[in-house]
Amino acid sequence: MRIGVAGLGTVGGGVVRVLAERAHDLGRRAGRGIMLSQVCALDRGKRRPHGMAELRWARSALDLAQSDADIVVELIGGENGIALDLIWAALNNGKHVVTANKSLLARHGADLAELAEKKGVALKFEAAVAGGIPIVKALRESLVAHGVGAVRGILNGTCNFILTQMEATGRSFSDVLAEAQRLGFAEADPSLDIGGQDTAHKLALLAALAFGIRPGLDQIAVDGIARITPEDITFAREFGYRIKLLGVARQGPDGIDQRVHPAMVKLGTPLADVEGAFNAVVADAGQAGPFFFAGRGAGQAPTASAVIADIVDIARGAIGPSFGLPAKELQVTRPAPESARASAYYLRFQALDVPGVLAEIAARLARANVSIESMIQRGRSLSESVAIVMITHPCPPIAVESALNDIAASDKILDAPTLIHMEPA
Ligand SMILES: NC(=O)c1ccc[n+]([C@@H]2O[C@H](COP(=O)([O-])OP(=O)(O)OC[C@H]3O[C@@H](n4cnc5c(N)ncnc54)[C@H](OP(=O)(O)O)[C@@H]3O)[C@@H](O)[C@H]2O)c1
Repeated sequence: MRIGVAGLGTVGGGVVRVLAERAHDLGRRAGRGIMLSQVCALDRGKRRPHGMAELRWARSALDLAQSDADIVVELIGGENGIALDLIWAALNNGKHVVTANKSLLARHGADLAELAEKKGVALKFEAAVAGGIPIVKALRESLVAHGVGAVRGILNGTCNFILTQMEATGRSFSDVLAEAQRLGFAEADPSLDIGGQDTAHKLALLAALAFGIRPGLDQIAVDGIARITPEDITFAREFGYRIKLLGVARQGPDGIDQRVHPAMVKLGTPLADVEGAFNAVVADAGQAGPFFFAGRGAGQAPTASAVIADIVDIARGAIGPSFGLPAKELQVTRPAPESARASAYYLRFQALDVPGVLAEIAARLARANVSIESMIQRGRSLSESVAIVMITHPCPPIAVESALNDIAASDKILDAPTLIHMEPA
């Protein structure tokens, strides 16, 4: 099996290194030789480790699609442009493709999978979701017996690192983000991570694998972590929860609910204990019960590990459909109706510390049929403002949204209310 690698950055560098150091062992496992045939990157003159300059270089990424490579590994990134052109051309030329590119697959995955099937080759993407955790293979192959009813996960290490640090240090979101950027845990432009879109790309792929649907982003409601305050994190702890950015896809009788948002996760449950830059996924596999997967969700070695696993799989002859079903059979999703999306909520109001404010909030919630399960009210010393925090019983999102609009209009409310989903244990 000859391997062509396009992109020699964090992931590509790791893949080339493993192929250089472990090709013999990998070949024994695959039952046939595996060798690096050609590489390319944007700037050939750049200083690179692992003897990359001495490798055989293709003139351009697209040349790899015409080369002698049996597998083209796309590790350039970007949801369109050269990465997409390369994958189309490679599949069209009958080459297997391995990629870590979640944003590209979330948009074009079904069409590319169809092309791969037509050409009788594999399109694999273990590294695109949760780095080194073998969750793609688990959903595509290992958990098919009873089906998967829900898949939930912490899928973005940058967000988890920021939330973990906010809790550990009591510092604000922007302070911790700046530190994460200094330490290399966050990109110079972190908007895709903190805005939740990166998690949505990965969730789209998990949902496609779990439920046999076409991956797509339009059905996913996305909210990020920028509005989370140290105060919310402290209150969460008092109620027995920790705040995590979750991607959640759940099959209901009337459709599939797909959401990315910060959520209160009960302390003592596996997802609550996932710290720092780690990722984790819980797959609820019917009668077989929930399965918990955790590990490093990004970085050179974990991501290269997943890419290499795909290469070995292909070398062994495993070239089944990318999403576990023939691409033509992947369903177009229907979003779950509002009524199926009922959730309990954490609500925080910053209010004037005057008599009657609590009664007013409670009355407006009651008017929208939102009932309160528990509550904390805490005044700030030397301040006229008071934080009122409530956890509701499960209710439809529309009910709580209408109550919040009503409450925000009160002259006793000082800031826009904060709402965070309570994740069922
Ligand atoms: N980093 C992670 O931990 C991680 C985890 C999971 C998935 N991924 C995914 O893996 C992919 C690669 O990420 P990365 O972090 O390795 O990116 P990266 O470090 O920025 O590397 C990108 C590579 O692509 C090359 N490149 C850019 N434009 C090119 C072109 N027109 N032709 C050929 N090569 C070109 C660059 O060349 P130069 O070296 O010459 O600049 C560089 O080597 C992305 O899809 C990403 O989402 C990354």
